[in-house]
Amino acid sequence: MRALVRETTLSPGDFILPLFFSATCKEPEPIGTMPGVMRLPVSAAAAEARAIKDLGIGGVILFGLPAQKDPEGRAGYDPDGPVPRAIAEMKSAVPDLLVMADVCNCEYTDHGHCGVLRKRRDGTMDVDNDATLEILALDALAYAKAGVDVVAPSDMMDGRVKALREALDAGGFEETSILAYSIKYASGFYGPFREAADCAPQFGDRAGYQMDPANAREALREAALDEEEGADMLMVKPALPYLDILARLRDRTTLPIGAYNVSGEYAMIKAAAAANMIDERRATLEALTSIRRAGADFILTYHAKDASRWLR
Ligand code: PBG
Repeated sequence: MRALVRETTLSPGDFILPLFFSATCKEPEPIGTMPGVMRLPVSAAAAEARAIKDLGIGGVILFGLPAQKDPEGRAGYDPDGPVPRAIAEMKSAVPDLLVMADVCNCEYTDHGHCGVLRKRRDGTMDVDNDATLEILALDALAYAKAGVDVVAPSDMMDGRVKALREALDAGGFEETSILAYSIKYASGFYGPFREAADCAPQFGDRAGYQMDPANAREALREAALDEEEGADMLMVKPALPYLDILARLRDRTTLPIGAYNVSGEYAMIKAAAAANMIDERRATLEALTSIRRAGADFILTYHAKDASRWLR
């Protein structure tokens, strides 16, 4: 009877698994801050795609670690970079696997910020929003050419959804969709990811472009702007500390919504489980169910493989 009256479902097809492809590693490399998550060489992409398909997972989102970084993040749109190559390998191994690519400069810039820098009049540095848009558009085009289904801008520059849509359409990629990281907070829960992707900012922080955790109305405004600019799907990130935002957005938009169960949320469960403080399986499935209950259609989560096995 409980099953009959259950209001929220959770299944492997709801999950998007984030993957890190590195230009320099030869073998899968464990990531210290994220137990169970590996940096992968592109040579592992096809087998990974098949394993993910076999588990019934809804799709993947790719991040890249380039061989070289520079102030503009040019490695992000190198067609021979780890992300375009991994996209092509995964799509040719499993053509119906949904492949997304994160679009951001922070993995590719030597200073670790999500855009190119400029000097303010007072001599301090900040991110140049509009100059960054041009680079993001080149990134999105490079991933579209490699065969990606969805580009997901996570940089938080203003106007980037419109810039990406225009660049994709002009390049003949009208069918490439945009999943906008619309509501992305300046969060302490990204710490483990920054080690994984080697993208911690070398000075300052991301509060100039990511959102203040205290703001909810601003979140709805950010989402409305992305919707107007042509986003096909919206995202809330992180997930668990912002379930209220997810629920409010669900009431406001008819677009599909994703939620990013980020690295710090994952690491907390892993660490507590390793210390025998909680039951990993129970806590994980409860957390993921709560994200669906709050209104997410799909969840980007590092728990995707384990949770999919548990849900079989
Ligand atoms: C890139 C990006 C980040 C994450 C996803 N895309 C890092 C950041 O904004 O600092 C974080 C994901 C996670 O913590 O799992 N801008």
